[in-house]
Amino acid sequence: MNIGFLASHTGSNMQAIIDACKSGALQANPAVVISNNSNSGAITQAKREGIPFYHLSQTTHPEQEKLDQAILDTLLKHDVDVVVLAGYMKKLGPKTLSHFKGAILNIHPALLPKFGGKGMYGIHTHEAVIEAKEKESGVTIHVVDAEYDTGPVIAQVKIPVLPNDTPETLQARVLELEHFFFPETLQRIVLGEIRLPRNQRLRVWFL
Ligand code: GAR
Repeated sequence: MNIGFLASHTGSNMQAIIDACKSGALQANPAVVISNNSNSGAITQAKREGIPFYHLSQTTHPEQEKLDQAILDTLLKHDVDVVVLAGYMKKLGPKTLSHFKGAILNIHPALLPKFGGKGMYGIHTHEAVIEAKEKESGVTIHVVDAEYDTGPVIAQVKIPVLPNDTPETLQARVLELEHFFFPETLQRIVLGEIRLPRNQRLRVWFL
């Protein structure tokens, strides 16, 4: 399973997945990294790991349609099977969404459908969870559609929100869980325990 990453910032989830590939815990190949941020940790990690990387953004491609095409072409060039959004804070364009329909996964640091949507990313998500006095939070992995955080959920794990949690302490615990949960979920896809919706590639591990 060739993984194509899209990441905007630190890329710690991407690194956890790469590490799992290296250890054999995840039987997959990190094929390419695309970042909309030329200074992202994700690009630094890709360089260090020897994974092909690309900066594709509104700076490199001011027209949305051309950016969408460039992202799609790059994923195709590297023979990507599954697209992993690892802290990617942009929407994908219609061409990429359509070609990889059912095979684009996003990780979200809360229990969707609660605390998702525009503006719900990173620390803002955890601030909202604490503000709402939720008793539990967690991690959601879902198939991506054209909106933010609305596609079908394929895996979810919960943790308690502790009485003295701040957004920062909650974020740290959730992130630690993400680093375990994302590679594990991808391996369950490899093993056929989780079946993704059909996509055009029709690899054996799809429905
Ligand atoms: C992660 O917590 C991820 O769940 C979140 O951004 C962080 C990226 O961290 N994604 C979202 O909030 C998407 N709505 P990372 O760059 O260190 O992997």
